[in-house]
Amino acid sequence: MNLIKKMLVAPATVLALWAVSAQATTDQAIAERLKPVGEVCVQGQECKGVEAVAASAGGGARSADDIIAKHCNACHSAGLLGAPKIGDTAAWKERADHQGGLDGILAKAISGINAMPPKGTCADCSDDELLEAIKQMSGL
Ligand code: HEC
Repeated sequence: MNLIKKMLVAPATVLALWAVSAQATTDQAIAERLKPVGEVCVQGQECKGVEAVAASAGGGARSADDIIAKHCNACHSAGLLGAPKIGDTAAWKERADHQGGLDGILAKAISGINAMPPKGTCADCSDDELLEAIKQMSGL
């Protein structure tokens, strides 16, 4: 009985986490869509629109720390669901050795592996951004 309960609780936790992060992405997407299409920029004044476009074009405006704080921390800080912990270089190295290096674990991070969701829920992260986040978390 107890075992059955545990078997039911584990997937429910994963599902709840997914739901929370999916919601976050949705809210962000809605805010993005609700933004005005164009803004008039006056020379000599700060032009907000340009900055926003540069950021959403993935011009490297987000740091690895930003991405980790927003997307990866949820599981990787506490080692939730067996995720390798931030700073536990040995655990990350073992995985990297297993998958053929940083590129190997990057590929798994992109596709998702077991309880690890594709791109770690950062759907708009570029491969480079994910790699930087992985390097930062693993210390590799
Ligand atoms: C919902 C929880 C969750 C989130 C959010 C998450 N991870 Fe993970 N991650 C996991 C789990 C669990 C594993 C271990 C999977 C396994 O091997 O069973 C893992 C493993 C990994 C691995 C190792 C893959 C391998 O080949 O062994 C990498 C790299 C990784 N995560 C990167 C990231 C990055 C980068 C982010 C943020 C952009 C992120 N993760 C966000 C849960 C998460």
